[in-house]
Amino acid sequence: MITTAEHRPRLPMGELSDYSTAPSLMRVENASDRLTLTWESGEQSGFSLTWMRDHCACAECRHAKTRERLHIPLEHPGNVSDAHLTDGNLELTWVDGHQSRFDAGWLHQRRPGQKSIGVIPPRRPWGEAFRPVSVAHADFIAGADGERAWLTALLRDGLVLLDDGPLADEEVSRLAERIGPLRATNFGTRFDVRSKPNPNNAAYTAIGLAPHTDLPNWRQPPDIQLLYCLENGANGGESTFSDGFAAAKTLRERSPAAFRLLSETPIDFRFQDEHHDISWRAPILTLDATGELLEVRFNNWIRDTLHLPPEQADAWYSAYRELWHLIHEPSQRLEFSLKPGQMVAFDNRRMLHGRNAFDPNSGRRHLQGTYLDLDMLESRLKVLARPA
Ligand code: OGA
Ligand code: ZN
Ligand code: ZN
Repeated sequence: MITTAEHRPRLPMGELSDYSTAPSLMRVENASDRLTLTWESGEQSGFSLTWMRDHCACAECRHAKTRERLHIPLEHPGNVSDAHLTDGNLELTWVDGHQSRFDAGWLHQRRPGQKSIGVIPPRRPWGEAFRPVSVAHADFIAGADGERAWLTALLRDGLVLLDDGPLADEEVSRLAERIGPLRATNFGTRFDVRSKPNPNNAAYTAIGLAPHTDLPNWRQPPDIQLLYCLENGANGGESTFSDGFAAAKTLRERSPAAFRLLSETPIDFRFQDEHHDISWRAPILTLDATGELLEVRFNNWIRDTLHLPPEQADAWYSAYRELWHLIHEPSQRLEFSLKPGQMVAFDNRRMLHGRNAFDPNSGRRHLQGTYLDLDMLESRLKVLARPA
C-alpha cells in the first residue's frame, strides 16, 4: 500500500528546516551499488550506497544534540542486505547489521540534480522602474513578517528601506543585532557619518561621494551596510544608489573586452591613517568559478597606485571610464533624501552608494552606520522559515 505525503510520518533527520511537504516513496530497488527510488509522483532518482551510508541520521552517525555528523566515510560501506519502505519512508539494513532510516521528503529535497531549495531569494538586477521596498520600523520590530519582508527585499534587490524609526542614538546597532553580530572595521563596530574637524575618510567631510563600495581595500569587505539617519537638515546630502551588478551586466553585453579587462586585472586599493595601513589587490569585478559576477569593488578615492605598463594602463582606464558612466547613468540611479528615522540597508558587494555634497553651515546631517555579514541575514531568513 502507498502512504501519501500527508499521512507519511516525519522521521528525524537532524534537520531543522521543513521537509514535511515533499512526496512519499512508492518503490525502492537495489542494484549494483545504487538505490533507485520512485516517489509517488512517478519521479525516479538514483542514490549511491556510499552517499546513503554517509547520510545516515541515527544517533551513532549524527550527534543527537548538535545534529552534526559523527560518521566518517573512510570505507566503502558494502551492500545493503535489506531495503524496504515503511509508511512511505526508506529503511536500510547494511551487511554489517547497521540500520538507517531516511525520511522520504528529506531525501526528495536532496535528490541528485536538485538545485538548492529554500527561502533565499535569487538576486534580481534592478530594471528601469526599480522602486525600493520599504518596511515600517514598527513592523520590523513586531515580529517575523516584517523582518522577513525586509530580509527578502534586501537579498533580492540589494537594497531596502526602513521607515518611521525613533530618533535614538544607536538604534542602528539595536536593529542590526536582531540579525547578527555587528561586523567591526577600522572605523569601529558602529560609526557616525557627519562632517568632522579632522576627517580620516571622505565620508566624514561634507564633500559629495561618487558611487562607491565601502572598504574594497579589505580582503573581505563588509557584506551589508546599514545607514540610519538621525538628522538631515543641511542643504544637499541626498543619497544615491546604483546596482553594480546591473551596470556590469550591461558592460558585459556592450563591451565584452572592457568587462574582461576589469574582471581579469587586479588593482590595488589602500586606506592609510595614523593607526592603519590596509591594502588589498583585487579586480574591480570578481567572477565566480562559473564566470558569474560575484562582487564589485569600486571606490575611486581609495584606489591606490595603478601598477600597469603604459599600453595596459590606457586600456584599463578606458574600461574603467565605461563602467563609471554606466554606474552614473541617470536611468539606473536612485536618488533621495534620507528622512530622520529612516534607515537604508544595502549589499555593499553589489550596490554602489554615494551622496551629494552638503552645506554644513545650512544645517546638521548625521547618519549612524554599521555592517553585517551576509551569512547572518541568510541564516535569519532560514530560521524564520522553520516549522513551528
Ligand atoms: C559611508 C557613506 C554616505 C552618506 O559612510 O560609507 O558612503 O550618505 N556615507 O554620507
Ligand atoms: Zn547510522
Ligand atoms: Zn560609503
